[in-house]
Amino acid sequence: MTQYTAASGTAAAAARGQQFFLARHGKEWSCASCHTASPGQPGRHAATGKVIQPLAPAFNVERFSDAAKTEKWFRRNCNDVLGRECSPAEKADVLAWLVTLKP
Ligand code: HEC
Repeated sequence: MTQYTAASGTAAAAARGQQFFLARHGKEWSCASCHTASPGQPGRHAATGKVIQPLAPAFNVERFSDAAKTEKWFRRNCNDVLGRECSPAEKADVLAWLVTLKP
């Protein structure tokens, strides 16, 4: 998150991250379509139905522990939802929100 914030040049905002996560961005899916609107819960892939473990790190210690994995999925998922990569500011906002979610 520190790196994304530094790259974006603005402070991350959890409320903006939540809005971004719940909203659709011109395509069929939002982030919540697969990760649910409460990503402390397990999700389900909108196309394949496969279970997805919780995205919020307080519920899943493996989350955001492997930068290459995180980047790979940000790239793929943002492309599915926005038709482009997420900006560093968007990633920082989403992370800022996810870390506020506690069991
Ligand atoms: C079509 C279903 C789908 C959508 C929509 C989706 N994701 Fe995902 N996401 C996945 C799957 C599948 C994985 C990888 C499986 C896993 O790690 O459990 C994943 C993993 C991730 C990871 C990896 C976290 C880590 O380090 O382990 C991040 C970050 C992520 N998604 C963010 C997002 C964001 C942000 C959006 C909205 C822009 C989004 N996802 C939309 C299915 C989706």
